[in-house]
Amino acid sequence: MPRHFLRDDDLTPAEQAEVLDLAATLKAAPFESKPLAGPRTVAIVFDKPTLRTQASFVAGIAELGGFPMVVDGNLAQIGTRESVADVARVLGRQASMIVWRTFDQGRIDEMAAYAGVPVVNALTDQFHPCQTLADLLTIREHKGGSEGGLAGLTMTFLGDAASNMSHSYLLAGATAGMHVRVSGPDDYRPDTAILERAQEIAATTGGSADYVAGPQEAAAGADVLITDTWVSMGKEQEAADRAAEVFGPWQLNDHLVGLGADPIVLHCLPAYRGKEITAEVIDGPRSVVWDEAENRRHAQKAILTWLLAADAGDTGGAR
Ligand code: NVA
Repeated sequence: MPRHFLRDDDLTPAEQAEVLDLAATLKAAPFESKPLAGPRTVAIVFDKPTLRTQASFVAGIAELGGFPMVVDGNLAQIGTRESVADVARVLGRQASMIVWRTFDQGRIDEMAAYAGVPVVNALTDQFHPCQTLADLLTIREHKGGSEGGLAGLTMTFLGDAASNMSHSYLLAGATAGMHVRVSGPDDYRPDTAILERAQEIAATTGGSADYVAGPQEAAAGADVLITDTWVSMGKEQEAADRAAEVFGPWQLNDHLVGLGADPIVLHCLPAYRGKEITAEVIDGPRSVVWDEAENRRHAQKAILTWLLAADAGDTGGAR
């Protein structure tokens, strides 16, 4: 059975560190490693809008010597025109790996069950593990210890704590041995099972994972401050409920940044200046968002390379 990357805790702490080391190596010499030479095809399927994800996967797969086959989910109509399982079996015969951005996590779980090749989550309603890998690489570069270690750093996410980004920070940060705090309005708490899973991982890595109600308390002493849109893709009809009247206290502004411990600021983008983050902060000296956006490519090249190696020796699927 191939390995997949469907959620952040699909990698053990040692595996996550290995992938991040590989990402740093690939970043240092972007055109030297060609594990997809052939070229092997990687299918990249989008059921939701994209900019960074499409650009970074297409560029990254090309750098690895492969062919990025972009599939428009609106044309494919996966799950309505034909079942997820049938699409998985078809794509698995054309491509060496499948990258999918979709809605419910159950859809990508089903894709992985039937594809016969590694499947990578390029964002679901529940998780965005490629983004968090890129973020951990960025944090290592700016805040990592002498060997780039992340353990012991405090990472705070402010905003929709029930979102895919919040969930991924909980799992990925706990895996890295970080102290993760997610903070947002009471109606936007993280999924209990995911929070508990993060706490279980943190107990093995020396980290911690908590929902912290108050934004000031959450930001205090943080090494890394992060936010994301208050209205995730697929939640547009809830935009009126997700307004500044509700989320305003969690806006990442100079006041909250001032409470951190010489913090860096991350945002996965797209950003809405004046809503979840002020222009002063995202365009200011603590912001590392452009490094973060670039690091999508390096981190994703690393997970694709790692999954391909883990899959080597398996039979079936197109290779
Ligand atoms: N939480 C956001 C992340 C965008 C990269 C969304 O799902 O729309």
